[in-house]
Amino acid sequence: MRILGIETSCDETAAAVVEAGTRVLSSIVASQQEVHEQFGGVVPEVACRAHVEAVLPVIRRALEVAAVPIDRIDAVAVTTTPGLIGALLVGVTAAKSLSWALDVPLVAVNHLHAHAYAAWLSDEPPELPAVTLVVSGGHTSLFRTDGPIEHSLLGSTVDDAAGEAFDKVAHILGLGYPGGPAIERAAAGGRPDAVSFPRSMLRSGNANFSFSGLKTAVLYHCVGPNASREDIEGAVYEPSFVADVAAAFQEAVVDVLAAKACAAARQEGVRTLIVGGGVAANGRLRERLAAEADALGLALRLAPRRLCTDNAAMIAGVACPMLRAGRTAPLTVEAVP
Ligand code: KG4
Ligand code: ZN
Repeated sequence: MRILGIETSCDETAAAVVEAGTRVLSSIVASQQEVHEQFGGVVPEVACRAHVEAVLPVIRRALEVAAVPIDRIDAVAVTTTPGLIGALLVGVTAAKSLSWALDVPLVAVNHLHAHAYAAWLSDEPPELPAVTLVVSGGHTSLFRTDGPIEHSLLGSTVDDAAGEAFDKVAHILGLGYPGGPAIERAAAGGRPDAVSFPRSMLRSGNANFSFSGLKTAVLYHCVGPNASREDIEGAVYEPSFVADVAAAFQEAVVDVLAAKACAAARQEGVRTLIVGGGVAANGRLRERLAAEADALGLALRLAPRRLCTDNAAMIAGVACPMLRAGRTAPLTVEAVP
């Protein structure tokens, strides 16, 4: 079974062909990074237009690289939720059109479940039940996972997502967009204990997160409590200051994510921890999760690094068990932000 996956929920236009749920025949990602860089973040209207321009060439390229003629596709899968509505609509419209024209089933994929499924696209697929941490630019959520498409929400962020905090702190430090990789690079030369930033909700006793206070703590540390937008954007820092703040901030985020994911796994009595989403590409987070999971005897199943940030292989992949379970969507299915 070969599934064409399409992903346009945020700022990457992606298409992929995956065979039998795990063999990635192609995975094409057209990043809009350059377009959004000048604005310091994703501008929904701009993202939508860029998707319109890129979606067909990206789909064509995915079929070409996979060497699968379009009439040999068995189903079309697309992210229908959550995401930016205008951006989602581009992929959903393309997928519906293809499903109708090719007369193949349409599969409506939840983006967060797809991030979790990226762990199934690694060498060692997860054993279940598990606890799954999805940590991205839009979401920070913990699930109990009883099957590749069976997730129940345990908790999530009450304000900013972890990736959003990386992006905002990178902006404060003048490191550009997207912030995650820039912070990780800067942090490599800094001291994680240089500043003691808050670990919000570390001991909240539930599976929720909060990163907004940490972002504010970084802001106050850099420019003080009454800084204007101009002060923030005009500030110039010594490279060693940037490196220390980046390292201390990253450590605070990693501490909370690793501790709360492991606590949830203990609480649920599972032996496997699955981690996916853009922030799961972070080397320090991967290192800390490995150490803490090992200490607790948990099997850690990380999404492969290249499949942590948005891609369509995870969409086409997760659609396979959905299709097998008969979970296809009508052509009237709607994008839900
Ligand atoms: O999963 P993703 O591509 O999009 C969403 O579904 O949101 O995640 C993007 C987020 C961005 O906030 C980006 O800064 C963050 O993932 N990210 C990272 C790293 N690479 C991407 N955060 C920390 N370290 C990284 N290496
Ligand atoms: Zn994502």
